[in-house]
Amino acid sequence: MSSGKSFYVTTPIFYVNDAPHIGHAYTEVAADMLARWHRQAGDDTWSLTGTDEHGEKILRTATANGTTPQQWADRLVEESWKPLLKTIDISNDDFIRTTDPRHEKNVQVFLQKLYDDGYIYSGEYEALYCVGCEEFKPQSEIVDGTGAFIGQKVCAIHSKPLELLQEKNYFFRMSDFGERLLALYEENPEFVQPESARNEVMQFVRQGLSDLSISRSSFDWGVKVPWDDSHVVYVWFDALLNYITAIGYGQDNAEFERHWPATHLVGKDILRFHAVIWPAMLLAADLPVPHRVFGHGWLLVGGEKMSKSKLTGIAPNEITDTFGSDAFRYYFMRAIHFGQDGSFSWEDLAARYQAELANGFGNLASRVIAMINRYYEGVLPAPGAYTEADLHVQETLAAAARDADAAIEAIQMHDALAAIWTVVDELNGYITVQEPWVLAKDDATRERLGTVLYTAAEGLRALAVLLSPAIPKATTKLWSALGVEDTLGALTAQPLREAGTWGQLPVGTTVGTLEALFPRVESTES
Ligand code: ME8
Ligand code: MG
Repeated sequence: MSSGKSFYVTTPIFYVNDAPHIGHAYTEVAADMLARWHRQAGDDTWSLTGTDEHGEKILRTATANGTTPQQWADRLVEESWKPLLKTIDISNDDFIRTTDPRHEKNVQVFLQKLYDDGYIYSGEYEALYCVGCEEFKPQSEIVDGTGAFIGQKVCAIHSKPLELLQEKNYFFRMSDFGERLLALYEENPEFVQPESARNEVMQFVRQGLSDLSISRSSFDWGVKVPWDDSHVVYVWFDALLNYITAIGYGQDNAEFERHWPATHLVGKDILRFHAVIWPAMLLAADLPVPHRVFGHGWLLVGGEKMSKSKLTGIAPNEITDTFGSDAFRYYFMRAIHFGQDGSFSWEDLAARYQAELANGFGNLASRVIAMINRYYEGVLPAPGAYTEADLHVQETLAAAARDADAAIEAIQMHDALAAIWTVVDELNGYITVQEPWVLAKDDATRERLGTVLYTAAEGLRALAVLLSPAIPKATTKLWSALGVEDTLGALTAQPLREAGTWGQLPVGTTVGTLEALFPRVESTES
């Protein structure tokens, strides 16, 4: 266990009504890049993901497929959701399912506390519900249906008819917390990010909060309300609590205090649950609110949110089978401004793969390793006196390492990669100008050749470290080719915040060989 400051990052827990698509993988990769960065920087890091298995949506899906919700969930978790993490190389520390006993039991602990403290009452309710969202919809998100649903009210996100529900429910006094939430957003402007998300949330809360229906009695697939087992807990109230039940809430206070509060990454579709309902729940329970709630944008298909319900999902392995998990991770973290919507395109992916990963980074690595083999029999030469060009490489690297760390702190992974890529570009330009193959022809420039190759190799050393959170597989291969496992240790043990400090590669290191890190991709069309 590291002694650094705590960093606890979460993804949403995903509904198991269907298999994952690249939208889910997108949030996973973003959280994983943050987790790997912080872990390698020495922070006491914990990353959590998992699945949301209760509620009417899952129940109906299971029933429609002729099975029980538990069996349905077990199958989807084992066959689809856990394998996703391998497909895209996620290094999560834990995986929580809302059907885990550790979760169900402590949802009841939480609810009982709120009940005992007077935050829950019983009442009547009638409103329009979207099973896709698992939410009573506010007026602003109800629109007129089109096509098959003309004349009906539909959900603005799912475009499917809403259902009028009339029930006796238990309610959470959320309306008590409007002022405290507004104070939180004011005093801690980084609590909800990006800025556009913060504005939207503040505007929503300023209009006044209603109390929240937190139980259902018309079906029983959920956690039982502890004082009334004719009700199950509302699926969102249940699901949000995963972030604390997974780290010991209700049963291991030391572990809970070690990790909490969290940085939550979510899509903007579920921002309000995380930035309004969730902190209100925590305030009611006298627990600290999250550290940050970041609402990222949507991957779009034809201008609309890619989704399971609209059958517009692309399976992550359709991409990784051809391009590999590193390219998947790099592409989504680099090409989309984190916080804004982005359109996925095969052309853009293929173009960036070729230009940035294969030609930009991969070639650079192969050429430098090959030249050390060719001109120095694989033994890293000592640098002579540094010239202005060499010092410029060093300055570029130092600035990139600083900027990338600041970007990660701001949850802007695209900026971090752009900063690191200044080093890739700098080194490629440096080699073009220095022409080591010309220096190699003349004994008089032997020392200069050593300086140039040391500089290039030391640049690769830093790139391997800085890029390992984004492209762990390729950087591990590069690290092994650099031949420093015995002297510097494992790649993931290299302190990330010191990556920009010059001169870490030991002179005299024997390098290995390096296959193309990003091999040419043959067109899959035949
Ligand atoms: O909402 N673009 O689960 P869910 C980007 N169980 N991200 C996308 C996306 C897209 N087109 N589509 C999905 C739920 N996502 C609840 C969460 S948390 C306590 C409970 C990602 O399966 C994004 O992270 O509908 C989004 O918020 C999430 O998947 C919704 O997943
Ligand atoms: Mg959804």
